[in-house]
Amino acid sequence: MKIAIGADHAGFELKQKIRDHLQSRGVDVLDKGTDSPESCDYPDYALKVTEDVVGGWADLGILVCGTGIGMSMAANKVPGIRAARAVSEIDAQLSREHNDANVLTLGARVTGSDLAINIVDVWLKTPFLGGRHARRVGKMSDIEKLETAPANRTS
Ligand code: RB5
Repeated sequence: MKIAIGADHAGFELKQKIRDHLQSRGVDVLDKGTDSPESCDYPDYALKVTEDVVGGWADLGILVCGTGIGMSMAANKVPGIRAARAVSEIDAQLSREHNDANVLTLGARVTGSDLAINIVDVWLKTPFLGGRHARRVGKMSDIEKLETAPANRTS
């Protein structure tokens, strides 16, 4: 399994810990930066990781910022991405089982590193359940294909 991982300055330290943890377990990790605690912009790293996921260079992606919120917003702008912000192991489990999340986002300022690593482990080992959930995930993909934004509807 190949995992693309990225972070902004707020998530840098936790990203390093997650990367080291995964590598120590033999996971192939593509580290897309940032490479220092110097201030930077989370959408830049969301784009790098999600490009790897939708392009097939990585199976799944992990993004870390201060809250996990900006990373999830930015990642979910990319067609084909289903990014889930998880603050608990059950978030991680259900985001894979029900939503087939292909990107996990974490907040280094709101989630401690031990819990964050547990969240990552649960997320990576949990399969998508398919069935009725596949129909719902398919409907999310259909929304991406809409040519007319809902705001332009007249009725
Ligand atoms: C950076 O200060 C912070 O805004 C960012 O890491 C993230 O939390 C945004 O959602």
